[in-house]
Amino acid sequence: MHITVLNGSPKGKNSVTLQYVRMVAKMFPEVEFEYYNVVYKNLMKRSKKALTDSLARTDLVLWSTPVYYLTVPGQLMAFEELVFSDRALGDAFSGKNASCLLTSIHFFDHTAMQHLQAVSERLGMNWFPGYSAEMEDLFKKPQLIRMKAFFKVLFSSIGASHTIGRKFPDFDGTLPDFVLPEKTPTGITDKNILIITDFLKEGTGTEKIVHWLEKNGGAGVKILNLSESKIAGGCTGCCICGYEGVCSYRDNFHLLFDDYISKADIIFMTGAISPTSYLSSMWKIFQDRCFYQGHKPVYAGKTVAFVLDGKLSLNNHLRELLEAYSDIGKIRLASITATDSRNFSEELIAVVERAHLMASEPDYETVTFNKVAGMKLFRDFVYLISGFFRSDHKYYLKNGIYDFPQKNIKKRLINSAVGLALSIPFIRHQVNRQMIPKMVEPYKKAVEKA
Ligand SMILES: Cc1cc2nc3c(=O)[nH]c(=O)nc-3n(C[C@H](O)[C@H](O)[C@H](O)COP(=O)(O)O)c2cc1C
Repeated sequence: MHITVLNGSPKGKNSVTLQYVRMVAKMFPEVEFEYYNVVYKNLMKRSKKALTDSLARTDLVLWSTPVYYLTVPGQLMAFEELVFSDRALGDAFSGKNASCLLTSIHFFDHTAMQHLQAVSERLGMNWFPGYSAEMEDLFKKPQLIRMKAFFKVLFSSIGASHTIGRKFPDFDGTLPDFVLPEKTPTGITDKNILIITDFLKEGTGTEKIVHWLEKNGGAGVKILNLSESKIAGGCTGCCICGYEGVCSYRDNFHLLFDDYISKADIIFMTGAISPTSYLSSMWKIFQDRCFYQGHKPVYAGKTVAFVLDGKLSLNNHLRELLEAYSDIGKIRLASITATDSRNFSEELIAVVERAHLMASEPDYETVTFNKVAGMKLFRDFVYLISGFFRSDHKYYLKNGIYDFPQKNIKKRLINSAVGLALSIPFIRHQVNRQMIPKMVEPYKKAVEKA
């Protein structure tokens, strides 16, 4: 069996994920592994022929990548864009089997895997569910046994020419026709408005949306066009920022935050949906570079609306991803709307009006699983690595984010007493008979007292 490994880590040969692939290669010495670092543009130009030849004879394309902000690094998305735009390269992927090996702290690794599945299926590949390892699994025997079992099944499945049902529809690159609203939104406040966008060319749908929002989005509207912002490159994952919150790049990226984002109350994020099923790689590189702020919810309290050009109805996982991005960032999400919506022009009015309504209501917040579970995962992660991510640690201490349940002495005492009482069958029987009315009793009292 021959495997073409596409290493999507910005760290190249020093990638943690790549060490997992090398471990799999050691576990299965009879399998041939060929490696390509696909995030280096210049290198890719030189090795395009070698990659195409490797794909021609491969049994499996294995994406090997870290999770970066709920999906894959911006540099890997740039490679994906290259594949979609280069017919010969794209064709070389078609009909091949694909899977992935991810490493992360398991924070939205499932959405990263969905992204790779969408990309692979849109390239005409036969997708097999991938493997997601926690960063430190390589040092743990049970996890290594689990990983070996996974790849044994994967390789056997490929050997047996299994076909797995497709999840994602083809990419429809035709951009929808849309009309902009004729009326103007009402309820406009004096909030600070920022539009973040990435359009390069004039006359695009994104440009039209940006100009409409500039005119109708609010009083003081600023535009941050990423394609003009001179970002020197994507996050390299060096993590030097962990201690003091300062990026190792010297391109003044932090000014985008200080001058634009931190001053905004309402942010409209706009861009076109890419064949990769995300926004452009430029957008993703911008998001990845925000990593210098660590695991702090730096958008907390800001109202955000995504206004996208493209067929969002064929990209439900993108919606899921943007919702998750908003939840974990403690963003007040006004809307995710796109030009394929049947009532786009009415929705656009509603987006603006709702954004102003939400931004004017200081207590507005929604809390669901993503926000609660995501924060707990970060809490435990930052606590365990607090010597390194010092800047996060200080923030978590200051903002009471270390809310470990074992610190709640009162609850622990109550639980011990309840556990002891319920170990007596007679008491347990009595409690069980009264369970539902007793459970709701304090709630009823609270409502009556209010
Ligand atoms: C910019 C950036 C974003 C990250 N985002 C996530 C994330 O969303 N979820 C997660 O579980 N880990 C995240 N991580 C952690 C990496 O996925 C993890 O460190 C990975 O093992 C690095 O692999 P590599 O050495 O192959 O690049 C992020 C790391 C960086 C630098």
